Amino acid sequence: MSLKTHSVSVEKVEISKINNVDFNNLIFGNTFTDYMFECDYKDGSWQNPTVKPYGTLTISPAAKVFHYGQAVFEGMKAYKDDDGKIWLFRPDENFKRINKSSKRLAIPEFPKEFFFEALNTLLTLDRDWVQAGEGNSLYIRPFVIATQVGVSASPSDRYKFMILMSPVNAYYKDAVKVVIAQTYSRAANGGVGATKAAGNYAAQFYPTNLAKEKGFQQVIWTDANEHKYLEEAGTMNVFFRVNDTLITAPNNDRILDGITRKSVIDLAERMGIHTEVRRVSVSEIIEAAKDGSLKEIFGSGTAAVISPVSAISYDDVTYNLSSIENSYASKFKKELMDIQQNRTEDPFGWRYEVK
Ligand SMILES: Cc1ncc(COP(=O)(O)O)c(C=O)c1O
Repeated sequence: MSLKTHSVSVEKVEISKINNVDFNNLIFGNTFTDYMFECDYKDGSWQNPTVKPYGTLTISPAAKVFHYGQAVFEGMKAYKDDDGKIWLFRPDENFKRINKSSKRLAIPEFPKEFFFEALNTLLTLDRDWVQAGEGNSLYIRPFVIATQVGVSASPSDRYKFMILMSPVNAYYKDAVKVVIAQTYSRAANGGVGATKAAGNYAAQFYPTNLAKEKGFQQVIWTDANEHKYLEEAGTMNVFFRVNDTLITAPNNDRILDGITRKSVIDLAERMGIHTEVRRVSVSEIIEAAKDGSLKEIFGSGTAAVISPVSAISYDDVTYNLSSIENSYASKFKKELMDIQQNRTEDPFGWRYEVK
């Protein structure tokens, strides 16, 4: 059956898979909802936006995405409140960011009306997959791949924009131990670090594996030139609390402009927490760890929201951070989740209701 909405076509599933899913024991990003969104770019325009049953694709092995990595993605979440209403958190920011990423990778930008209509249609059809309750959400993965056939290194003239959705529970259960990067880098000046280019993540896997072999979960990335300044933690932005001051690095072309990060900065200002957005040197943080003024480190990102760090390693020395009561991390996490799940007022207008 094929229905027409405003501009997005809908192909209905015959039988939902939802009864086979154990929503209390989800592995992050492994289970997908009944529907997905697909839209093709050809002859110079985005065409046939369609919501259809989740399923496999048939793509030529010569498609450029497989050879040149011309691919970008986004990560966002939908939440259900206790009244059954569904909310997105700052989806405009994800929309702007995927087009910023696309532009940098010579991919044509995607129309705003298709993006929002796709999300509204998907979330209406798959609304039962969004579970209410603490830590539960639906992770949403928009992405674009180059589909032109041909093993010649030039931008594709065909693309596929897709959106997948995956029900998830809370991301990290425990605080993470991190190691400061002294050899490898995730991004370089003038490169693609400020975009969500797929290849950025592939490049992180090997150094992260090395950190894991030593008992750490993530790498804190430093500037590629000198490894002197702290920039991101794994796939999160990173904050440091020295005494009562919150410090985070300014955005640059190596750092992803995180939506959670900018929300934390706004919340900190509203809570009266003194915040400094400036370069953060490895040496000042190691000194602060030694003299006890380093109180907290935490990562911020859509997947984990706020992820406290329990230990940091540099030059093969590990500095442990004891957990503290009323931590900034726990305050920001609570405040953000309360806004996201419609449990509190929304002073910044960040919530978007799916109707
Ligand atoms: C490299 C990187 N940094 C930071 C973030 C956090 O960004 P956001 O808060 O928008 O999820 C992400 C995740 O999206 C990321 O992949």
